[in-house]
Amino acid sequence: MALPEDFLQELKMRSDLTEIASGYMSLKRRGRNMVGLCPFHGEKTPSFNIYTESNSFYCFGCGAGGDVVTFIMKTENLDYIEAVRFLAQRAGLNMPENTYDDSMTQLRKRIYEANRESARFFHKCLYSPQGKKGLDYLYGRGLNDKTIRRFGLGFAPDDRFALSNHLKSLGFKDNEMLSANLVYKNRSGKGTNDRFYNRVMFPIIDVRGNVIAFGGRIMTDQKPKYLNTSDTPVFKKSANLFSLNNAKKVADRTLILCEGYMDVISVNQAGFENAVATLGTALTSEQAVLMKRFADEVIICYDADEAGQKATQRAIGILRNAGLNIRVLTIPDGKDPDEFIKKHGENGASAFYNLVNGSNNDVEYRLNKVKNSFNLKIPDQRVQYLNEAMKVLSNLDSVIEQEIYASRLAEETNVQKESIMSSLKRLNSQKNRNFRQKEFRKIQTDLSGRDDKINPQHKDEPRATRAEEELISYLVNYPDTMESIISKIDSKSFITEFNRKLFEYFVQRISSGYEPLNTINNDFSPDETGKIFQIVHKTITLKPTHQALDEYINIIVEEKGRLKKEDIASASMEDLSDYIKKLKEKRK
Ligand code: GTP
Ligand code: MN
Repeated sequence: MALPEDFLQELKMRSDLTEIASGYMSLKRRGRNMVGLCPFHGEKTPSFNIYTESNSFYCFGCGAGGDVVTFIMKTENLDYIEAVRFLAQRAGLNMPENTYDDSMTQLRKRIYEANRESARFFHKCLYSPQGKKGLDYLYGRGLNDKTIRRFGLGFAPDDRFALSNHLKSLGFKDNEMLSANLVYKNRSGKGTNDRFYNRVMFPIIDVRGNVIAFGGRIMTDQKPKYLNTSDTPVFKKSANLFSLNNAKKVADRTLILCEGYMDVISVNQAGFENAVATLGTALTSEQAVLMKRFADEVIICYDADEAGQKATQRAIGILRNAGLNIRVLTIPDGKDPDEFIKKHGENGASAFYNLVNGSNNDVEYRLNKVKNSFNLKIPDQRVQYLNEAMKVLSNLDSVIEQEIYASRLAEETNVQKESIMSSLKRLNSQKNRNFRQKEFRKIQTDLSGRDDKINPQHKDEPRATRAEEELISYLVNYPDTMESIISKIDSKSFITEFNRKLFEYFVQRISSGYEPLNTINNDFSPDETGKIFQIVHKTITLKPTHQALDEYINIIVEEKGRLKKEDIASASMEDLSDYIKKLKEKRK
């Protein structure tokens, strides 16, 4: 039940990773490889590599790795079969039919369809008599019909079976509605209840136009105010943004980041179509990386209250890490952008426009925050202000940026710029020390295998695991050496099961004349695939030699021969005498 070897080979030959990835990120040549800022985690210096020869990638920052199919799975949020289909379409190849298990793909397809039908149903209800209170609520909040249509807003009737009855009449099954999180099993365990009822509904649409989830607002003061779809096979709350489907169409690569659905919608109605919001959770670096695909600059426009200001500081860090430029919009009156716009009535749009224009960049925003908490007329407080301000500046990566703000601080406080810069230098070197320490700890953790989820034996066998990985990497990168390797070591000598499986797998493929990595996605899970590409790309740094090869083999054999504590405890008499015999032989 897998895609045919030939088809995959053809597909990969026609799908150049460098060319495809260039549509999602910018890449620079470095030697034989291409490098760029990783599209899968936030970073400011590039650690994402494309290996043009093997048409695969690996990120030294986050450990993501794979081939062109993996790349599409991750960037387009598709499962394996969907990603292959995506690439096949692009390459003008026909998908082979019925050779693979696509039950998950089929389920995802049904979830998309159920969501789309639900959005239609909710929208229709909004404009029917039973939805009048929902429509009145939205009008009451200042939305017009055009906006309501544009966002496909709806109403879930006050009936715990309305949606599911409708979906059933269209042929949807319980398991499909359950997987879509549109219904849940009721207490008796027999039937299901609708998840959303008596709420105004906000469909969440991804950048390809699929309805992936819903938010529903209650129209009273009851709790919870908003109810959102939980994560499903097509929806990950932490990796999506509300209204990005609209915002990505705006050409100027700027996004306005709000806290809530209603803010985004009001801001849109005021003429800014580039507004987005997280889905009821704090901003994640995944979302920042997603924004980076469509924008260079993000204007943070959170609530004016303390929670909103805290969230702003946090968001600045996350967005900066993703390499985005930042401006911060401060709302002078009203709780949030929605209230601000409404409060200014007819002038709402132009008042908001002025706020956007007058917004400061993130450094100015932070410095202002610090400044406002001190009285600069009192010398003591001036010193404190300087100290706090320098902490802000020490977070900047560019010395030029630091210089500019240091000049401004010098003027403000009547302190010489040189003393500010030399204090900053001290903070900078402290920062560098911390950074190096963190890097060091990361390498330590890596080597210890503590966090290795794919190969659980790694942490107990770090030395053997490393040698096994080096050997596998050698084998995959230099398939010609297979004969010589298997003449020296047998898979039975491998200590960790995962690596033994890998070694056998690659030997088998290479000896059958296949490209080692061609069907990796068929044969391993996405997480395992990631790990395999990590092994293949991370280990080989120097040109390998026969000497190195022999050394890995020696380590594996040596580690295998070592009797482990646990083994002694559980060893039989025979095992032990066998072991003693071996030891004697070795001494001869
Ligand atoms: P309105 O009162 O409708 O204007 O909403 P708001 O956006 O002003 O609300 P608030 O600032 O309280 O919340 C911002 C966002 O947090 C909302 O858009 C929701 O996504 C989310 N949120 C708010 N309340 C809840 C809740 O009770 N449960 C969940 N899961 N999310 C919520
Ligand atoms: Mn609000």
